[in-house]
Amino acid sequence: MSANIAEMENRRAAAKLGGGEKRIAAQHAKGKLTARERLDILLDEDSFEEFDLYVEHDCTDFGMESQKIPGDGVVTGSGTINGRLVFVFSQDFTVFGGSLSHRHAQKICKLMDNAMKVGAPVIGLNDSGGARIQEGVASLGGYAEVFQRNVLASGVVPQLSLIMGPCAGGAVYSPAMTDFIFMVKDSSYMFVTGPDVVKTVTNEVVTQEELGGAITHSSKTSVSDLALENDIEALLAARDFFDFLPLNNREEVPERPCADPWDRAEESLDTVIPPSANQPYDMHEVIKKTLDEGDFFEVQPLHAGNIIVGFGRIEGKTVGVVANQPMVLAGVLDINSSKKAARFVRFCDAFNIPIITFVDVPGFLPGTDQEHNGIIKHGAKLLFAYAEATVPKITVITRKAYGGAYDVMASKHLRGDLNYAWPTAEIAVMGAKGAVEIIFRGLSPEGIAEKTKEYEDRFANPFVAASRGYIDEVIYPHSTRKRIALGLRKLRTKSLENPWKKHDNIPL
Ligand code: HXC
Repeated sequence: MSANIAEMENRRAAAKLGGGEKRIAAQHAKGKLTARERLDILLDEDSFEEFDLYVEHDCTDFGMESQKIPGDGVVTGSGTINGRLVFVFSQDFTVFGGSLSHRHAQKICKLMDNAMKVGAPVIGLNDSGGARIQEGVASLGGYAEVFQRNVLASGVVPQLSLIMGPCAGGAVYSPAMTDFIFMVKDSSYMFVTGPDVVKTVTNEVVTQEELGGAITHSSKTSVSDLALENDIEALLAARDFFDFLPLNNREEVPERPCADPWDRAEESLDTVIPPSANQPYDMHEVIKKTLDEGDFFEVQPLHAGNIIVGFGRIEGKTVGVVANQPMVLAGVLDINSSKKAARFVRFCDAFNIPIITFVDVPGFLPGTDQEHNGIIKHGAKLLFAYAEATVPKITVITRKAYGGAYDVMASKHLRGDLNYAWPTAEIAVMGAKGAVEIIFRGLSPEGIAEKTKEYEDRFANPFVAASRGYIDEVIYPHSTRKRIALGLRKLRTKSLENPWKKHDNIPL
């Protein structure tokens, strides 16, 4: 071996040690993997090609000139997940706490520029103490350069963030602008100001986990889409998730071999709707029985459970699913569920993913809490998202589709391509009893009961809507998968464009 090659190998080996054995042991003691161990799990074996291994910071303050570690706290490069290209960065907490120097930021920017050039997704593994304190404003500038790229990449290539350690201060805003965030329970947290500052300013006492841990962000705030038990689970989930995503906004969705017959009849769906309209059933069952092999990747399962969103496949190709969930708040639309579904619909639309919508919605949630917190503005988000979406949209009304919520949930009027209803569907302005109490105010209880029956007979079915062409066909529940598969085949060549504009003005 030549001396030159030996020199290269020595340098490589030194760089790969990051902050050294002691800090690696400390990382392991916290139940965390190192930056490189994480990439080994995330990417296909031997697929990682690193670049900028020898980049060092250029800080000369606070004795930093004598403390240089090749790579400068972030491992960057590209690799594959099940054979498909992805660009990755993985922050190395063993090097200056994974803190972001200007050079560290430049490495991230370089990989994002490369990803954009070739049209490949970016996955960031975040584990960082934030801005490199010794660098001051140079570090802040570095963050802003990353933020700018997050925004330009949004809607062009999918961006996924895994939070696997600290992510605090302004550092939270890079993941916040990516499409999806997965957090690891107990070892990761995200907040703009930490517990100490909170205590000083507001006198509140709160732990890191309560303030910004994985559960808080996956249930309360919806900042995070999933909370995983540990690093390995999070990385494996990211691999599964990646398989649903197209590489960029011009690519078709990926296709997988599928052994599930496209026309599989699911007889149990014929009896899934309970006899009483007030009785709930689990919409997950409908979703899973429709998708290939029952494989459904739900996002935000802990937040706004009254609406379900996630990815699955029909005939091997990715679809996005949005569904009201009668088990939670009777499937009503409220602020949180509207925001959750709106963002999901926009992601699907940006990346050519057809949207399947299952509808069982009694309307919008009434109350001062909802009104005063802006259900008008937030409900409009979902309406807006469905209306602007140009991807194939197939809607199946299983039971209730009442009032404005009927319009919102991918109705025909919002350019729904195929709008199906089960025979159990009830498409009306509102529930029969409520309607009768308004139009026949003051009637005796017997009179109300009689008129309610009349209203139900007239409207508690899908045929009035079907007679107007608002429903394309009333279908057997057991044929739902087949009808969706046929519909998607037909819509493969769908071509629909919105008028030219710089961008829209969705109610934010
Ligand atoms: C430089 C840092 C650092 C930082 C940690 N380190 N954070 N070095 N800049 N921001 C170094 C430590 O000096 C230490 O070095 C090593 O990383 C590990 O840190 P520890 O404190 O020993 O680890 P731990 O106890 O696990 O605590 C982790 C931590 C804590 C909670 C992240 O280090 C911390 O509070 N750091 C500062 C966080 C912060 O205030 N960042 C700036 C936020 S403002 P040695 O050599 O001992 O191993 C911000 C603005 C962004 O980010 C704005 C964007 C718009």
